[in-house]
Amino acid sequence: MKSDHKLPAPNRREFLGNSAGLLLGGVLGSSLLAAGESSAAFRAANMPQPSSASPRRIIIDTDPGVDDAFAILLALSSPELKVEAITPVSGNVPLELTLPNALRLVEIAGRTDIPVAAGASVPLTRRLITASYVHGEDGLGGVNFPPPKTKPVTETATEIIRRIVRAHPGEVTIVAVGPLTNIATALRSDSELASMIPNLVLMGGSISGGNITPAAEFNFYVDPEAAYVVFHSGIPIVMVGLDVTRKVQLRDDDAAALEAGANPVSKAAGRIARSTIAQYRRTGFPGFPMMHDPLALATLLDPTLVKLKDFYVNIEIEGELTAGESVAYDHAPVRHSAPLESGGTLDGRNADEPFHTNTKVAVDVDADRFMRLLVGRLTNRAS
Ligand code: BDR
Ligand code: CA
Repeated sequence: MKSDHKLPAPNRREFLGNSAGLLLGGVLGSSLLAAGESSAAFRAANMPQPSSASPRRIIIDTDPGVDDAFAILLALSSPELKVEAITPVSGNVPLELTLPNALRLVEIAGRTDIPVAAGASVPLTRRLITASYVHGEDGLGGVNFPPPKTKPVTETATEIIRRIVRAHPGEVTIVAVGPLTNIATALRSDSELASMIPNLVLMGGSISGGNITPAAEFNFYVDPEAAYVVFHSGIPIVMVGLDVTRKVQLRDDDAAALEAGANPVSKAAGRIARSTIAQYRRTGFPGFPMMHDPLALATLLDPTLVKLKDFYVNIEIEGELTAGESVAYDHAPVRHSAPLESGGTLDGRNADEPFHTNTKVAVDVDADRFMRLLVGRLTNRAS
């Protein structure tokens, strides 16, 4: 027995599965990771799919957030969707603001029947990073809407996600457009839950560089461990990341069209748009507000807006400079490049495991058609 040599470094799966991995292993939930990854094909073949005639049930997990607000208003203006719940999380601004912002938005849309359930106030293991420099101190571009009268439901985000998914197994699509803390917490709390979720459409990640660091997109950077749990859950994922959302921007003429709309949703969206554009100009923030989150939502309304490509996506959770990076493989990694001490595996994957994909990544978008859909739905909405 070697006594004076370092023990071989465990690969990530061994580390996470090892009780000595303590905090991180506990946070990520190794049994979930192993079970989830192998069950996707079985589930895809076996879960009932919602009938195309009835609206699709969705839960919106969100951190409103200017573009989150547009995503919520778009969903609430789309008869193809049945929004079962909205679950705010800390992200763009803290939960103390994202929660009332979500309540304000359901009030504006006249949909206070939709439950809004408070989610996580901090990421799984990290300090919260916010983005009020983009979204304004209030999270809605500095409009400062009046306080909402509606209250959140008493269930937590995790509880309501579990209850609704379990009530309609195989029918509820999760639309996650903030840091993935709530979704990861729900999955960790119920090992069967992932197998009941037919798909998860998320705004997050990038395969062409980040926006908060050169490597990472904001949502994944805020809670990389949560993103890791989700990408290893076995839930079929559609990743609408910066590769396409950078191309969809809200300009002055869009703001004017929204302001001219004759319903409260359009007028509120116009105020948020105008105020956010003005904030960008005042602070010297470059460009126009990007409509990241509504693009993710819109893929449920018109899948032809984006071009999807299959990848195996993993999330960097250890890199000091690259935390939250989404690393996408379109073919099996070259085994020989694995560090020797990892036992011949790369990226925590079993070297004998056949290559599989876990994510459809949006790689191209018809930006003009999407913006027409977004502005058109909000302005033409019946009051
Ligand atoms: C994502 O981060 C947030 O700032 C936006 O709401 C969007 O979900 C873009 O990186
Ligand atoms: Ca968001």
